[in-house]
Amino acid sequence: MAQFDLIVIGAGPGGYVCAIRAAQLGLKVAVAEGRETLGGTCLNVGCIPSKALLHATHSLHEAQENFEKMGLIGAKPKVDWQKMLAYKDDVIGQNTKGIEFLFKKNKVTWLKGWAGIPEAGKVRVGDETHEAKHIVIASGSEPASLPGVEIDEKTVVTSTGALALDKLPKKMVVIGGGVIGLEMGSVYARLGTDVTVIEYLDRLIPGNDAEVAKTFQRILKKQGMDFILGAAVQGVTVKRGKATVAYQLRKDDSEHTLETDCVLVATGRKPFTQGLGLDKLGVKMTQRGQIATDGHWATSVKGIYAIGDVIEGPMLAHKAEDEGMAVAEMLAGQAGHVNYGVIPGVIYTTPEVASVGETEESLKEAGRAFKVGKFSFMGNGRAKAVFQGEGFVKILADAETDRILGAHVIGPMAGDLIHEVCVAMEFGASAEDLARTCHAHPTFSEAMREAALACGDGAIHA
Ligand code: NAI
Repeated sequence: MAQFDLIVIGAGPGGYVCAIRAAQLGLKVAVAEGRETLGGTCLNVGCIPSKALLHATHSLHEAQENFEKMGLIGAKPKVDWQKMLAYKDDVIGQNTKGIEFLFKKNKVTWLKGWAGIPEAGKVRVGDETHEAKHIVIASGSEPASLPGVEIDEKTVVTSTGALALDKLPKKMVVIGGGVIGLEMGSVYARLGTDVTVIEYLDRLIPGNDAEVAKTFQRILKKQGMDFILGAAVQGVTVKRGKATVAYQLRKDDSEHTLETDCVLVATGRKPFTQGLGLDKLGVKMTQRGQIATDGHWATSVKGIYAIGDVIEGPMLAHKAEDEGMAVAEMLAGQAGHVNYGVIPGVIYTTPEVASVGETEESLKEAGRAFKVGKFSFMGNGRAKAVFQGEGFVKILADAETDRILGAHVIGPMAGDLIHEVCVAMEFGASAEDLARTCHAHPTFSEAMREAALACGDGAIHA
């Protein structure tokens, strides 16, 4: 029986970051991970592989749509799907091996196998039981399905199956117009698949700025994706490799069906706690099946903590990473802290969509007076040069104090641009602070400054 200061369960972005930080702060650390490779959903079947496919298919789109416009004449690339999947797998391999290297470098022990907690202070992996002063559960999440929809990961797939389809489908129905549905839907649409998204609500990407969502839908429609909004999927039947999706339109209860080669179920994820033995331990859960924590990631059982997708909050890798780092610091006697008001969200389509902080909708609901500074990428020279003038930046600031309350971007590199607002918000900056900061020309980031200027005396290029 080995003894550790900390055993982390799960080597996804929450778990591995927690382990590395704890080891850096002098703790003796082990991580239990049952997958063959480290990195969790994010590195193996989530963020990283999907970004590889998004990059490959964006490049294809550039070659098909824009090369000629730039005077680049030649044979258009053909898609070798198996080779594209091999490239994606190579990217996964490089990243998961990178975590293995970091574990060795920081002397973090990998306990290979699925872990259970027989009692507080003990973690069982396979036939061995290890002792730990502290346990951090970072076991992540798994796709949530719908009643009447059976996943076979061939014809009816989750994001995991969608990253490794045998062949390119002619038609795909995506259930759910959220992040996964639109990122993966966009990959297949660019590869020539006829993609239809069925979304329960009357809009895409719920929780995001409504105007961004509308613009996003218009741009994706132009890229060839179809949308059926306000429709509840009732079931999927599969016969000889073809699927029929039954749905009901909420406005008039009319019933419809769609025939397709592949169905991607992207209706959210649920916490993964199987095999941990939480019931027996008496760990308190929320009504939604998450592990309940006290605001400092402590569960109801002393010495057991939980972070990431398995607890409340947005299911985002970087939120889990921040929590992992904070718990590690706390266990090492420092003050761990996460600012939940400044967690960006990014959708990695083209254009990218990014947001942080409050939305107009949330501020109205809270009755808070605010002003809006908006700037279109049409006024940004750099964006026009790369055929991406369609989106905009919106900055929300307090009506009286000018303090930045949120930002919403749809446009080129939005996922990187958003971070200047994140830093500004962490420092309690005003829109004027951002507007007075010199931004290099010509960059996409000038659009951020212009939106900040629009919160005051006005943007220059509008
Ligand atoms: P999601 O919560 O983003 O979207 C699910 C969508 O499905 C919602 O729009 C919902 O209204 C719709 N829906 C639910 N039931 C339905 C029904 N019966 N018929 C039609 N539509 C229905 O969940 P998603 O896209 O599956 O992603 C799961 C999690 O993974 C999210 O928390 C997401 O933030 C995270 N993720 C983040 C990424 C990123 O940061 N780029 C990438 C991929 C996933």
